[in-house]
Amino acid sequence: MANEILSKAKKDQNDEFYTVYDFIQKEVNDYLEYNPNVFRNKVVLLPCDDPEWSNFTKFFAQNFENFGIKKLISTSFSKEKKEKMYPVGYQFSIFDIDKIGYDEEKTTANGKIFTLTRDGNSSENVDIDDLEWKYLEGDGDFRSEEVTKLRDEADIIVTNPPFSLFREFVNWIYQGNKKFLIIGNKNAITYKEIFPLIKNNELWLGATCNSEDMVFSVPDGAEVAPKDREKAAKLGYVGNYTRLGNSNWFTNLDHGRRHQTQAFMTMNDNLKYSKHKNVKENGYFHYDNYDALDIPFVDAIPSDYEGYMGVPITFLEKYNPDDFEIIGLAPERADRGKEILQIKKYTNAIQHNPDGTTQGGNKVNDGPAILYDSVEALYRNVSEKKPYYTAEGVDGYLAVGYARIIVRKRVCK
Ligand SMILES: C[S@@+](CC[C@H](N)C(=O)[O-])C[C@H]1O[C@@H](n2cnc3c(N)ncnc32)[C@H](O)[C@@H]1O
Repeated sequence: MANEILSKAKKDQNDEFYTVYDFIQKEVNDYLEYNPNVFRNKVVLLPCDDPEWSNFTKFFAQNFENFGIKKLISTSFSKEKKEKMYPVGYQFSIFDIDKIGYDEEKTTANGKIFTLTRDGNSSENVDIDDLEWKYLEGDGDFRSEEVTKLRDEADIIVTNPPFSLFREFVNWIYQGNKKFLIIGNKNAITYKEIFPLIKNNELWLGATCNSEDMVFSVPDGAEVAPKDREKAAKLGYVGNYTRLGNSNWFTNLDHGRRHQTQAFMTMNDNLKYSKHKNVKENGYFHYDNYDALDIPFVDAIPSDYEGYMGVPITFLEKYNPDDFEIIGLAPERADRGKEILQIKKYTNAIQHNPDGTTQGGNKVNDGPAILYDSVEALYRNVSEKKPYYTAEGVDGYLAVGYARIIVRKRVCK
């Protein structure tokens, strides 16, 4: 129970991470480079935001004219609801207290909506000072009828939604059939609600921050592990900041990185020149239980292999849909693409632990497995800290690898 409370608090704390300006700018620049008119005449909605101090609102308001945006809408969740989820550090913005229209009761119970359409203060620029605001009728929950109507009005949705509601948020966007750019946890790639969209090229990873730390600001008083605070500081963000190593941008807006072709060596050249010792010394292995060749590193994809290949999830960071077709995921789950051809399920398996003990080995069915003819051969390719498996009717020793994406090269006809 205590663990449950702790992990819920941790999850909810991630819901209160705020995106840093430079990271938004860096990502959006890639879409503009690919299509300078990506936001022109578009209604841009920033839901799950905190417009009073959000860098999303600031960034799009400051670039309103530059990008040719037709209307910018930003909404926030009520103070009461935020505090219920994560009771640390709701911050009143100066905006609340200074501006006409402030209402203590409504500030607690209602969300807010900020809109930008015109040069309201006649400064000859449309910018952040022209934002107009009012209280929403409800609490600003993105699932409410009120915010859903705003979704329907929008062309593009941009935000860092609460991580704990990521699946629901993506579903909400797709129900509205909208373009989007959002931040989420890398693990979302394998979610049953997300992977089919990736496979069908309806959703892909963003252009930046792939395999790099993303920095977030946190409310006053939020608990941040010292090592995360230090890493954020090393990247230039000192103070109320943290970093996450497993966050990504997810989008259905096109960017140039998706269309870059990567050069790979042939299989023979990999066997001779790969920088990865185990590729060079041990070669490539076909899985015993999946119809695919295991590719342990993305840069070791053989350019001349035309069959199914199991590649690390990080493959998606450089995925160009013109060069590769995504077939599915291993481990295969009925709802994530049945085409992968899991060719074998093991029975009466035994797990052999590195300390010499044994236990039931059902985990051997949890991923793509490679069969070796000796334990020595297995541990030449696999860390000695990992268990291996034996199973009924299997002549040899099995090692189960990490989750893989099964892909195939597109062959020019
Ligand atoms: C990860 S933070 C990001 C805030 C802001 N978009 C940014 O990046 O700086 C997610 C925000 O969504 C809010 N939130 C949580 N659940 C929500 C819901 N059901 N509807 C709308 N907003 C929600 C949180 O209070 C928090 O302000």
